[in-house]
Amino acid sequence: MPHASRHNSSTATPSLWPDSTRAWTCAVISRNSCVVESRDRKSDSGRQGQPPIGVPQRRSKSGYAHYALSLCVHLFGLFPLARWLVLGYLGGLTANPQEFLIRSSGTWALALLWATLAVTPIRRLSGWAGLVRHRRKLGLYAFFYTVLHVIAWALWDRGGVPASMWADLWLRDFIGIGALAVLCLVPLAVTSTHGWMRRLGRWWTYLHWLVYPAAILSVWHFDWMRAGKNDFFEPHLYAWALAVLLGVRIVWWARQHHR
Ligand code: HEM
Repeated sequence: MPHASRHNSSTATPSLWPDSTRAWTCAVISRNSCVVESRDRKSDSGRQGQPPIGVPQRRSKSGYAHYALSLCVHLFGLFPLARWLVLGYLGGLTANPQEFLIRSSGTWALALLWATLAVTPIRRLSGWAGLVRHRRKLGLYAFFYTVLHVIAWALWDRGGVPASMWADLWLRDFIGIGALAVLCLVPLAVTSTHGWMRRLGRWWTYLHWLVYPAAILSVWHFDWMRAGKNDFFEPHLYAWALAVLLGVRIVWWARQHHR
């Protein structure tokens, strides 16, 4: 159903469809339910997304699926943190815990960013529109681990000395590239709220295209960091996965524009 999928398609960020923003701003995905919800909002302000007062709430099957998936996303997002705590408690953070945590946080930031980018292709291929509602959570977890990664570097690699951090940005190429990736990710995290989506309107979608340079710079950072160790296996794996995730988007975009 190519037409239907176009309407539902990019209820969010990294989609290339220009009509996506309106749908994102709705707590629900389909066009009809979006209309119903906005009517509810007018008549029942303050109870956004909830049924009108007096209507008994019944959780549908898809409602349960949503909560189950939401739980899975949170478990996935919190797993690295829990793992570090357990490893720390058991004394399993390797002989160099600082380096382990800097690297591990970087790896998880990257993995979660890739998971965020995978949502749209999986949604389009599976037709499971509800998936899109979990993309923001994944993106924010990716940002969370990026922030931990940078804090770990600043404190343990640079001793918390601003001059040393500044010098490192220029001395080690891969650090400079990582910093550029972070610069791309910050506006995405800041504007991830519904308020910002509404305020920016169409521009919100354009702004969120920053996720693509952020991903490219992140994998570049990883690749250059490993270049010193001549160990490219993992960076290349991530680079190929990114090529697929971006490639399918380009194909879909080209098809839409050549219709
Ligand atoms: C200011 C920004 C950043 C700084 C200062 C930074 C710093 C570092 C440092 C010091 C390392 C370890 C180098 C070593 O052990 O020799 C590293 C590795 C890494 N960073 Fe970053 N990074 C930044 C941004 C990012 C971003 C945005 C991502 C991804 C979203 C990322 C992902 C990684 C990965 C995957 C590794 C390699 C982990 C491994 O070897 O297993 N970094 N980074």
